[in-house]
Amino acid sequence: ILPGAHTHVYQYSGKLLKGPAHTVKTIPGYLGPILNFERGQKVRIFFYNRIAEPVITHWHGLHVPQKMDGHPMYEIFNGERFVYEFEIDNPAATYWYHSHTHEMTATQVYQGLAGLITVRDAAEQKLELPTDEYEIPLIIQDRTFTRGNQLQYLHGRHRRMMGFLGDTILINGQANATFPVKSRAYRLRLLNGSNSRIYKLGWDDGTPLTVIGTDGGLLEAPETFPYVMLAPAERVELWMDFSGREKGSELTLQSLGYKGGGARMGRMGGMRGGLPQGKSFPIAKFSVKERVGESHQLPKKLVPIRQLSAKDLTSPDRTVPIEIGMRHMLFQLNDQTFGMYDHQNIERIPVNTIQKIRIFHEGRMSGSGRGGGMGGPRGMGMMGMMLSLPHPIHLHGQQFQILSRKQNESSSDYETVKDGFIHNGWKDTVLVMPGEDIEIIKPFEDYTGLYLYHCHNLEHEDLGMMRNFDVY
Ligand code: C2O
Ligand code: CU
Ligand code: CU
Repeated sequence: ILPGAHTHVYQYSGKLLKGPAHTVKTIPGYLGPILNFERGQKVRIFFYNRIAEPVITHWHGLHVPQKMDGHPMYEIFNGERFVYEFEIDNPAATYWYHSHTHEMTATQVYQGLAGLITVRDAAEQKLELPTDEYEIPLIIQDRTFTRGNQLQYLHGRHRRMMGFLGDTILINGQANATFPVKSRAYRLRLLNGSNSRIYKLGWDDGTPLTVIGTDGGLLEAPETFPYVMLAPAERVELWMDFSGREKGSELTLQSLGYKGGGARMGRMGGMRGGLPQGKSFPIAKFSVKERVGESHQLPKKLVPIRQLSAKDLTSPDRTVPIEIGMRHMLFQLNDQTFGMYDHQNIERIPVNTIQKIRIFHEGRMSGSGRGGGMGGPRGMGMMGMMLSLPHPIHLHGQQFQILSRKQNESSSDYETVKDGFIHNGWKDTVLVMPGEDIEIIKPFEDYTGLYLYHCHNLEHEDLGMMRNFDVY
């Protein structure tokens, strides 16, 4: 993979580029190639740095040894090479890879150091899901362009606190994406590859979303949702059946309007215009070009899942905390910002255990040393608004499951998002809305060493909203 710093907008066919499972096909454009793997396959990847910044790549969602995980401690410099070797040990699903360089993740991912990974396995094969041209990857990103049509990353302290929000929605690197389809069933693999934008996915004609897969695998059975919240780094696989639709008809996948994303704070910070978090806009258009008779039937059952519950916990009385807080105008996890080699005050987790983890917001809003700045003429003030931003929390290593999700504040904002969370299935990233308190269950099997957990709002991550777990 040659990290390309191309910033032109190229056209991209939108089709999944496939060959034998181990092949790599390059997408023309700023994104990296799609890597198609099979479970059990051993891979070796030569990663070269030919740019003027340090880089390292992380395989988001894959269960790999610590040295292969793309921890920023392994970043390489111009002219250097990193050789990754690992075995694909994840169920069939959609994963991705992206730059994970110390304090440069946001800008490097923005410039294109990211790409999709598909993993296939035998259980999935049996389902005979739509494939080839009927399987469409949708990498959703928001970008801003200069007048010369070059990618433009907008800096500034306030923007970093909010997270970057672009004004143009791209699918697979292309604006105004339209996909010609036949009147039959499709498998859509969606990745939110944006730095900080959260999408509320819905079809424009009100058709419910049929979800067949989450971050780390297919579901046991398809589930329908009126809409699905997709935070940065999350993936969702949809079954979309266009059968019965007339030739020439069009359907648009949209991001619907919602509240609680921090748009009010954006306005306070002077970020007017553009595309605020929570605004509604079209994402991609599907246009029926051909009527066909037969379609695939949606399977009633998908794949068996190893269901984790409280009784699987290694130490049922222990809960590992991930507390979201803020101090000195920096977001923190468990009262700290990132320290590369932090061995002290970090969560130590014995290997080959299953842990309960609670992700929640700091209770106290202010107090000495808490940054201050509360109140003021504009109500809750900047500080209070910062404390009520959503954070997509991601944990490296194995996929987890959600045990419970609780909203502690009665809020009308939450009403606008609450039906869009997928409770079942494997996850590696969970969106924590303001006021939410979430319990997850996660195995820490096979590998020891420092693994990361962080906010996947990439600006937050680069500001230090990241920590190490020491698995020993
Ligand atoms: Cu996709 Cu550490 O992240
Ligand atoms: Cu990751
Ligand atoms: Cu965050």
